[in-house]
Amino acid sequence: PPPTVLEAENATISQGVVESNHAGFTGTGFVNGDNVVGSSVEWTVNAAQAGTATLAFRFANGTATNRPMDVAGTLVDFPGTGAWTTWATRSITVPLNAGANLIRATATTANGGPNLDHLAV
Ligand code: GCU
Ligand code: CA
Repeated sequence: PPPTVLEAENATISQGVVESNHAGFTGTGFVNGDNVVGSSVEWTVNAAQAGTATLAFRFANGTATNRPMDVAGTLVDFPGTGAWTTWATRSITVPLNAGANLIRATATTANGGPNLDHLAV
């Protein structure tokens, strides 16, 4: 099946804001998390049945410094994309339960995370 696209701007944001000043995002904007450890975006991912799923995070990082985030205990790298308007995707595979799964991406450094556009599952 085609992936389900879950926009970051519709997720639960802790220490961050929805913005739209860097082109190329899907939906109505993206999340600019505060540049602090602990800023996060939490999505609800519904799975029809238990099993592994690929989570694809669309992001931009206009700096030259990696901005790793913790996702369900996995450190996901979000390296520089060259510009805030250049969007890329990083994917991980995780186990999901049947029903609703809370998937939270949390910044792990004082640089915060990248700008987050969406999660495709
Ligand atoms: C700039 C950019 C933001 C980004 C921020 C950052 O201010 O415009 O979109 O989130 O840098 O460094 O995190
Ligand atoms: Ca930011």
